[in-house]
Amino acid sequence: MEDLRLDSLEGVGPVTTRKLSDAGIHNIMDLIVRGPVEIAEVTGMDKETAEKIVNKARQQLIEEGLIAKDFVSATEIYKRRQDIGRITTGTNCLDTLFEGGIETQALTEVYGEFGCGKTQFCHTMCIMVQKSKEEGGLNGGALYIDTEGTFRPERIVSIAKANDMDPEKVLENIIVARAYNSAHQTLILEEAGSVIEENNIKLIIVDSAVGLFRAEYLGRGTLSARQQKLNHFVHLLVRIAEIYNCAALATNQVMASPDVFFGDPTRPVGGNVVAHTSTYRIYFKKSGKKRIARMVDSPHHPEMDVVFALSEAGVIDPEEDGKKKKKTTAKKTTTESVDSENPDPTEPNSE
Ligand SMILES: Nc1ncnc2c1ncn2[C@@H]1O[C@H](COP(=O)(O)OP(=O)(O)OP(=O)(O)O)[C@@H](O)[C@H]1O
Ligand SMILES: [Mg+2]
Repeated sequence: MEDLRLDSLEGVGPVTTRKLSDAGIHNIMDLIVRGPVEIAEVTGMDKETAEKIVNKARQQLIEEGLIAKDFVSATEIYKRRQDIGRITTGTNCLDTLFEGGIETQALTEVYGEFGCGKTQFCHTMCIMVQKSKEEGGLNGGALYIDTEGTFRPERIVSIAKANDMDPEKVLENIIVARAYNSAHQTLILEEAGSVIEENNIKLIIVDSAVGLFRAEYLGRGTLSARQQKLNHFVHLLVRIAEIYNCAALATNQVMASPDVFFGDPTRPVGGNVVAHTSTYRIYFKKSGKKRIARMVDSPHHPEMDVVFALSEAGVIDPEEDGKKKKKTTAKKTTTESVDSENPDPTEPNSE
């Protein structure tokens, strides 16, 4: 986007442009994403000047129709919502839960205990976003921020094959960023703007969003520092999703409480910060060999539960699982034990 060059803004000369791009701010969109406080910090300019520049940037983006005005009529909001894309989950059950698939311009948070299928769901969505619009995808790429080292290209290959897609092409359209600590995780997202544009990214995955923050900030004394940093990260994610019209999908662990069902005291690790920012929150729960997904919190979806399953093909409808099993009854014992793990009893319960 050439017309979004930083130096096209009044008051931004070559020195400021360089300072900004050193900080990963490459165009006018990035200015809006990062906001005046950060702009002042990285360039050393005073806050008022930074605010002026960000306001001008906002003005320009509004004029070009790239972002919404501050005051808009409900009709305009309704129109803008028509631009929202949806990515099919490739299953009837989860598509029913999401009313068609996961949305762009929104953050979808999937939380649940270990082994409930969060990472499998993320892998599946990396393939689904690449499908054509007719097939329920967005014909776009995926950016996978992997904080746990659990991204597996082999899983992508097998899910792609199960969907009759060319695995090599599918792998090419997934950009993986391995985050090693929470500051690195934030930095990756801060610098993601140009990657998103260049690769036509339509889905940003953060698996998991909270894990590194949780590991680094231990104990009660550090709780508010952690929430503050996490807050910054999650808001950045939401802003990027809105500005670039991408879907954001973040996973979150829960403190397991194995013997109670829904309405149980398990809650997502991120606490309120994540809860208040996510547009959609889905709870995954093990139920024997199947999985249950519940829409917990949504501005307009009804609360409901659906049953899905995990397989070589990623997340699937439970009846497909039945079909596959019929074909392979002779060797079904090999996969039998995989699902029966209990949540890790050593999982720390400290928040
Ligand atoms: N190839 C496969 N075929 C069938 N099921 C699989 C396959 N790969 C993984 N699974 C299932 O996925 C489960 C693991 O799910 P996943 O890694 O998505 O959990 P998670 O929710 O991300 O857990 P964590 O919180 O530890 O990251 C396994 O227990 C298994 O049931
Ligand atoms: Mg996982």
